Amino acid sequence: MTCDKRSDGPEITIQSVRLKDFNPPGLEVDDGNDAESDIDPFLTSPIERDQSVKEVDRPLHPGEKYFLPTDKAELARLDLQHMVWTRALDGDLFKAPLIGPKCVLDVGTGTGIWAVDFAKDHPDTEVLGIDLGKPSPPGIPSNCKFEQKDFTEDWGHTNTFDLVHCRMLFSAKHDARQLLQQAYDSLAPGGYLECQEMYGMPLDVDGSLSGTTLESFFFNGVLGLKRRGNTSVLSLPLYGQWMREIGFEDVAEVHRALPINGWPGGAYKAVGEMMLPNIRAGLGGVYTRLFANGLGWSTEEADEMVRKASEQMSDRSIHAYFPAFIFYGRKPLSAA
Ligand SMILES: C[S@@+](CC[C@H](N)C(=O)[O-])C[C@H]1O[C@@H](n2cnc3c(N)ncnc32)[C@H](O)[C@@H]1O
Repeated sequence: MTCDKRSDGPEITIQSVRLKDFNPPGLEVDDGNDAESDIDPFLTSPIERDQSVKEVDRPLHPGEKYFLPTDKAELARLDLQHMVWTRALDGDLFKAPLIGPKCVLDVGTGTGIWAVDFAKDHPDTEVLGIDLGKPSPPGIPSNCKFEQKDFTEDWGHTNTFDLVHCRMLFSAKHDARQLLQQAYDSLAPGGYLECQEMYGMPLDVDGSLSGTTLESFFFNGVLGLKRRGNTSVLSLPLYGQWMREIGFEDVAEVHRALPINGWPGGAYKAVGEMMLPNIRAGLGGVYTRLFANGLGWSTEEADEMVRKASEQMSDRSIHAYFPAFIFYGRKPLSAA
């Protein structure tokens, strides 16, 4: 599919947004011998939401700085997303080789679940989470704090943190390069930035996504994001290069997969099984808005596309996954 609404040629095509050479280790189709995973059935169950509120009417942060909803269903989706990520990262919260961090910042903290888990694992570390709203997750340890702050504005901290963590901020409207620079400025010399981000266009292992409704669904989502002024979703593969240009050293790039359902065998099956309800819960809130506000579709058209995509989402013969990138790098000890 191409999008050719502009006279000077297509903005993006499915071919142009497919990543080359993305090979997450261990991602293979279930050969029929793999049992279902042992994860809690609660984590693979649908996330319910108040159906009396239309998707396009779900509440947002004041000022509409961010287009995803802020209701209970979205918070439940974010908590499930945390489980998906930690499972895909082998149970880890981060991959950077940190030693004895004293001060950590979680940017765009969402429900705050990552910050709380990090603070519990590191009782001697002060953890701060910032977001457009101030979250109040259960069981906040005394070494974890939250502040309401727009991360596109001045953070008010320089040379402070031993780790700056950013996860799934690609959907937020921001200049990614500026975010990396702000992170650099706020880090103490020797501190690490770690970005954990998903590329919004899925890939497949065998061509089984090609030509499906699902493929054009996600492609239109990326196009909608782009039309709304979001460039980070497509520039994600450049983060490592940008980090080096800003001054980070020992920049590392780790690849993982977030399968759309439980089609893989081995360790990725559980990730896919949790991913399915997570994507389904995001379909309406994320894509109805993107199609309606980003591409100018009618709500009926958007709803119909969401319905069809939701049906195809659980088809285990479509071996699709979202590429997950983990970038980390260190601010030099010599940097002031
Ligand atoms: C997809 S969620 C990810 C949440 C969390 N990082 C996680 O992985 O669980 C994106 C978060 O970014 C926040 N956000 C978006 N734009 C922001 C901004 N300009 N300043 C602060 N937070 C922002 C949203 O409110 C939302 O909580």
